[in-house]
Amino acid sequence: MKLDNASVVVTGGASGLGRASAERLAARGAEVVIVDLPTSAGSDVAEAIGPNVRFAPADVSNADQVEAAVAAAADRAPLRGVVHCAGRGGTVRLVDREGQPGSLETFAAVVNTNLFGTFNVLRFAAAAMAGNDEVDGERGAIVLTASVAAYEGQIGQIPYAASKAGVVGMTIVAARDLSSKLIRVCTIAPGVFDTPILGRMGEDARARLYGAVPHPRRLGNAGEFAQLAENILDNPMLNGETIRLDGGLRMGPK
Ligand SMILES: NC(=O)c1ccc[n+]([C@@H]2O[C@H](COP(=O)([O-])OP(=O)(O)OC[C@H]3O[C@@H](n4cnc5c(N)ncnc54)[C@H](O)[C@@H]3O)[C@@H](O)[C@H]2O)c1
Repeated sequence: MKLDNASVVVTGGASGLGRASAERLAARGAEVVIVDLPTSAGSDVAEAIGPNVRFAPADVSNADQVEAAVAAAADRAPLRGVVHCAGRGGTVRLVDREGQPGSLETFAAVVNTNLFGTFNVLRFAAAAMAGNDEVDGERGAIVLTASVAAYEGQIGQIPYAASKAGVVGMTIVAARDLSSKLIRVCTIAPGVFDTPILGRMGEDARARLYGAVPHPRRLGNAGEFAQLAENILDNPMLNGETIRLDGGLRMGPK
């Protein structure tokens, strides 16, 4: 996909996988809009990446805020790409240490950000893209972010795994739904990547995480995620699929 004279929204772009995607797409000449929480470093990150990157503060699960962020992006150039990385963790055991049922509030909060937020971004982005002129047979492409936890969630990951499995499930439906509008949808399911969350862990804890990766036995770099996100935007035959990006990792129960 041609990305010059186009805008691209990168949610979660203030940090980690989203930031690397914003950097890569900005280097391609796209008008990049980082959509992230108002409390994030989005404004500083946008300024640090370059003049073709702006920040639109929004919680991805908030309808008005996402509508405004997408409108801000489409205002400068047609919105042709989305890399949706915003997401959060949160653990729940079905029976907690005191023998009480696990927290419904935590479950709902994780699903709200990761699954409802994904639907919210998809619908506003698709509505904006649907009004674009066709270029090389398409109007836009959207990359969602799941996790290998969608397939092999570990103990405690029940809200996270459920929310990410929902993202995997919506991928083919969204691609079918938007096919008549010439918009593609794919999802990346990362394994373990070196982002600020993991950066705060000690080396032992990090090594335990990547020790189960067959090859290459290390954490993924955010740039490797960004590379695949760009490939998906570029390749018109990629549609409706979730691609694991995990070095062959299959997570154990804990
Ligand atoms: N890093 C990994 O190993 C890994 C593995 C599998 C999946 N993922 C997924 O990749 C995505 C990015 O993860 P990351 O490691 O870069 O994390 P990160 O914490 O570095 O970045 C996530 C960004 O999302 C933003 N965000 C969180 N909730 C938001 C909301 N409601 N609205 C708007 N922005 C919000 C945060 O402010 C942050 O800037 C997430 O969806 C995560 O679940 C990451």
